[in-house]
Amino acid sequence: MASTKGQVIKCKAAVAWEMGKPMTIEEIEVAPPKAKEIRIKVIATGLCHSDLSGWKGILAQRKFPCILGHEASGVVESVGEGVTSVKEGDHVLSSFLSQCHECFMCKSPDTNLCIKFVESLKANGTLADGTTRLSCKGKTIYHFISCSTFSEYTVLPDGFFTKIRKDAPMDKICLLSCGVTTGYGAPIKVTKVTPGSTCAVFGLGAVGLGAVMGCKRQGAGRIFGVDINNDKKEVAKIFGVTEFVNPNEHQKPIDQVLMEKTQQVGCDYTFECIGNLGVIQSALNASRLGEGKCVVIGAPPSGNTIAVDPMQLLFGKVLTGCFFGGLEPSEVPALVDDYMNKKIMLDELITHTLPIEDINKAFDSLIQGKTLKTVMHF
Ligand code: APR
Ligand code: ZN
Ligand code: ZN
Repeated sequence: MASTKGQVIKCKAAVAWEMGKPMTIEEIEVAPPKAKEIRIKVIATGLCHSDLSGWKGILAQRKFPCILGHEASGVVESVGEGVTSVKEGDHVLSSFLSQCHECFMCKSPDTNLCIKFVESLKANGTLADGTTRLSCKGKTIYHFISCSTFSEYTVLPDGFFTKIRKDAPMDKICLLSCGVTTGYGAPIKVTKVTPGSTCAVFGLGAVGLGAVMGCKRQGAGRIFGVDINNDKKEVAKIFGVTEFVNPNEHQKPIDQVLMEKTQQVGCDYTFECIGNLGVIQSALNASRLGEGKCVVIGAPPSGNTIAVDPMQLLFGKVLTGCFFGGLEPSEVPALVDDYMNKKIMLDELITHTLPIEDINKAFDSLIQGKTLKTVMHF
């Protein structure tokens, strides 16, 4: 096949022209990567709840028209000047969280954040130079959290991807590009769940089930799985939930239910994997007096606040949060190894595999709670 390096690529993509309006499949133009960027051919891309939040316009990034999607596996088509971490033909996972290895945050052992990620959020839909590499019918199309993977080809800034082994199935490991990793890392990296402890995971989507897997790996004794959708009950057990609790089936608030189930001690670790302000409160309330740790993992609607009774903090509870499970992108290849060695379950999460043409159907099913994980292909 003739090389496309240095040329504009015309390809298929799902374009979100307006907030909350059905996406349309279009032929778009993807410009070649500039310096410190790469262009990839997307092989598979998972649908994560943050794509839905982005489409609804409730995340900080809300520039339309845009191409959503941020959970992809792909093959490097070409690299821009100055990129040394990958070459044409390498397999990568996209990453909304960057790792530049140079900034004060990348150099700190105590955070997985990177200043380029912070800057990318401020750029709100453009790449670092203030422009985009995507267009359609002469119109500028904005990037979504540095990924825009609902497109056959896309451009990623340097540091916003991870090189991975070539023998791993692309249609499965794309899930490690965001959701599962975001949940899985938190109990391992952020709170370091201790053996025998009691955990509660709120929200049992791919993020929550990732957190459940992380708790189990750390040797948690009890893992409560909290979800309003009873369809999650059986699948949650496969991942390690020891007790499923549906808040709608109790008269009392869910935090009180969990306090009762723990003889009023509370849970050692609670993980909010929904992005719901009220549930964050419940997760904090349900955590143990003196030393409970409550971790916000789900992305809440931008610009909102929660009210925290400082007494909860005086009583020693810790309220914290993380992006990407506290993991650095460079730690993702080890997770791919874990999947290949059957230590992380991904196949069990994939309820639907659909062509990109069915993108609106996939969004509808996620809204209706009918899917766990949909993987889109081209
Ligand atoms: N109480 C309990 N469970 C709830 C509630 C609630 N009030 N509201 C929603 N849920 C459950 C849903 O029934 C669903 O099972 O939370 C789960 C969320 O799962 P998904 O929609 O599949 O979302 P997921 O992709 O896992 O992402 C979760 O993490 O990355 C962020 O932006 C993402 O905020 C989102 C969160
Ligand atoms: Zn950095
Ligand atoms: Zn995501």
